[in-house]
Amino acid sequence: MNAIDRRHFLTGTLIAAGGGMLAPSLASRAACAAESGSDDARRRAFRFAHFGDTHVGGGATMPFCASDDGYPKALKDVHALEDAPEFILHTGDIITDAFWATEESARAQWDVYRKIMQEHCRLPVRYTLGNHDVNFGWGLGAEGTPFPGKKLALEQIGLPSPYYSFNHGGWHFVVLDNTQPGGWNGFQNLLDDAQFAWLEKDLAATDSATPILIVTHAPILTVACFFEPLAKTHPDGLVISNDCVHQDVVKIHNLFRRHTNVKLCLSGHYHQVDHVQYLGVHHICGGAVCADYWRRPLTYRPEFEAGYGLVDLFSDGAFEYRFVDYGLVGYQDDPQRKHYAWGEV
Ligand SMILES: [Fe+2]
Ligand SMILES: [Fe+2]
Repeated sequence: MNAIDRRHFLTGTLIAAGGGMLAPSLASRAACAAESGSDDARRRAFRFAHFGDTHVGGGATMPFCASDDGYPKALKDVHALEDAPEFILHTGDIITDAFWATEESARAQWDVYRKIMQEHCRLPVRYTLGNHDVNFGWGLGAEGTPFPGKKLALEQIGLPSPYYSFNHGGWHFVVLDNTQPGGWNGFQNLLDDAQFAWLEKDLAATDSATPILIVTHAPILTVACFFEPLAKTHPDGLVISNDCVHQDVVKIHNLFRRHTNVKLCLSGHYHQVDHVQYLGVHHICGGAVCADYWRRPLTYRPEFEAGYGLVDLFSDGAFEYRFVDYGLVGYQDDPQRKHYAWGEV
């Protein structure tokens, strides 16, 4: 079976510029396509692939994370697409884990990642930092840290700054760094003051006719957090860990309200797929290339198989998102296990 046959287009979503109702299903895709007007108004600008959470490299903290065969499989699938993406957008958790690792282990994981990329990837890649790519030493190598928190990751992916923006095909991309010190588990999701000020400036400098796509590791707005093991039942009710909720979501959304050309926010982190629309902004959490760290579908939500996103962006600010199950079936410890194609359970 080839890559095209295996692909499952399950979360097709097409939104007219300026909004429109939707839900992540094929039925809603058809309805929204009808709302979005003529084909002329929906000329596709370009296509890219969205990789979330590859967790490549194994290492001491997660030695079971056997990505050496799995990650090339995902890359081969992308490169076999007849309608090829122009680049890969990686939303972070690139390597298995540097957060609790030694510098030696983190460097070894990056070595594995780089080797696989050299051998199997011909597409350009745009990177985002994830919480597992940085070390809890934080900062950019401040004195006394176990090892430079973000510096090593930035060196490895060739970025001078953990947040940046770029233009492609008539769209403006803003890549943010929302893994910050604090929280119950050693980090929390928010934008520090300097980054928020930079974001305000960057959005203000973007022509209001140019559609904007915001990229983060953890979602700015999500429902996947309710299904995390960290969402615990407390005597007072359901409690969501404070590293699962973007601490400054209200502040960020108030900023988005001033820029109605912010159309789509893409993220990963939860290894689940969800889609939230709030006040004209669509938030898609795009699952994980590694599923549950290359072992099986997500343990606590087995509906979520390994996959990546294919994203078509249109010149009028519309987009189409498809989740692609690239066939990591029966791959690791249980070749007989049931394969849950996402959306079919
Ligand atoms: Fe992850
Ligand atoms: Fe993460």
